[in-house]
Amino acid sequence: MSKVLVTGGTGYIGSHTVVELINEGFEVVIVDNLSNSNVEVLNGIEKITGVRPAFENIDCVDYVAMDNMMDKYGKIDAIIHFAASKAVGESVEKPLLYYRNNLVSLINLLQLMPVHKIKNFVFSSSCTVYGQPDILPVTEGAPIKPALSPYGNTKQIGEEIIRDTIYANPTSYQSIVLRYFNPIGAHASAEIGELPNGVPNNLLPFVTQTAIGLRKQLQVFGNDYDTPDGSCIRDYIHVVDLAKAHVIAVKRMLDGKSGDSLETFNLGTGRGLSVLEIIKTFEEVNQVKVPYKIVSRREGDIEKVWADPTYANEVLGWKAMETVEETLRSAWAWELNLANRKN
Ligand code: NAD
Ligand code: WQD
Repeated sequence: MSKVLVTGGTGYIGSHTVVELINEGFEVVIVDNLSNSNVEVLNGIEKITGVRPAFENIDCVDYVAMDNMMDKYGKIDAIIHFAASKAVGESVEKPLLYYRNNLVSLINLLQLMPVHKIKNFVFSSSCTVYGQPDILPVTEGAPIKPALSPYGNTKQIGEEIIRDTIYANPTSYQSIVLRYFNPIGAHASAEIGELPNGVPNNLLPFVTQTAIGLRKQLQVFGNDYDTPDGSCIRDYIHVVDLAKAHVIAVKRMLDGKSGDSLETFNLGTGRGLSVLEIIKTFEEVNQVKVPYKIVSRREGDIEKVWADPTYANEVLGWKAMETVEETLRSAWAWELNLANRKN
C-alpha cells in the first residue's frame, strides 16, 4: 500500500483529499498544527471511510519535528503539501507570518525529501498567481503577474522555489503544481466541509452562514464591474472534484507517467459564474433566501477569472464533474449539519 504524507490534511481541501486517497487504497499520514482546523475532522474522515488516518500535530516550520516524523513513518511514497496560511487580508496585515509559515514549511519539506528518499511532491498553488489575466479563460501559459497580496506572493515564490530546486536536482524530485481556482462545497456525506475560523473571508461560507441566520446580511463587494451583472466572476469548483485531481496527480507520479520533473495544471471547471449568479442559484437549489446588500468593491479583488482546464483534462485525464447546483446543495447540507451538531 503506497503511503502519502498530507500536510494540512485536517484543513478544508486536505481533508477531502485524504478521503479520496483512502478510498483509492492509499495509506495516509496527516501532519497539521491545527492552526486553522480542528482535530475532530479526523472523526468525519473515519465516518466516511471507516479508516482513521495517522495524525501528527506538528508545525511544518519545525524542521527537526518534521525530520523525526519522517523517521517514524519510514517509506513515504509522496507528499501533498496543503499546509499554509491562506487569508489574503490577513497576509496584508501580517506579511512576515505568511512568508515564514508558507515558505519555510515548503523549504523544510524540499530539504527533507532527498534525506528521506521521497521524490514525489504535489504543491497547492492558486489561480491568484495570474492576477487579472489579459486573456480568458486562463491557461497555464498565461503570464504570472505581480502578486496582489503577500499571500499570493507566497504562492508565486513557492512555485519558483520548487522550479529552482528541481532545476538544481533534476533526478531528486518529481513535482506537480496544482493551481486551484475557487473551491466550494462539501463531501456528499456532510461529515466534512469548509469550517472557517471566525468571520469567513470567502463567499460561500458567508452565503451559507447568512442563509442559516448566523450572519444578518451578505455584502456583495461591488456590482459596477465590467461583467454582465456587474459582480465579479470566478471559477467555482467542487472541493471533491479538486480532491480527486490530487489522487490522479499522485498516481501519475507513482506510475512514472509524468512528462517532466515539474508539471503545472489549472484545476477549474472552465465555467465563470458571477457573485449574483451564485447567490441566485444557491437560493433556487436550496429554497432558502440569502439577504444581501451591494456595497463598495473589496480592495484587491480582480474582476473576472476562470480556467481553461484543457491541459488537465487531456494530460491528467481529470475533469470537474459536479454541477454548480450540486456543489451549492452540498455547501448548504454541510452548514445544516454544522447547525445540527450545535443543537
Ligand atoms: P485550510 O486553512 O482549511 O487548510 C490548511 C491547513 O494547514 C489547516 O488545517 C492548518 O491548520 C494547516 N496548517 C497551516 N500552517 C501549517 C503549518 N505550518 N504546519 C502544519 N499545518 C499547518 O485551507 P485550504 O482551503 O484547505 O487550503 C489548502 C491549501 O490550498 C493552502 O495551501 C491554500 O493556500 C491553497 N489554496 C486554497 C484555496 C481556497 O480557496 N481554499 C484556493 C487556492 C489555493
Ligand atoms: C469570491 C467573490 C468577492 C465574500 C480568494 C483568494 C484566493 C483563494 C480563494 C486561497 C469575489 C465576492 C466574497 C463576500 C463578496 N484563496 N465576495 N462578499 O477572492 O476569488 O479568492 O479565495 O488561495 O487566493 O484570493 O474568493 O470567496 O473571497 O470571493 O461579494 O462576503 O465573492 O468580491 O468577487 P477570491 P472569495
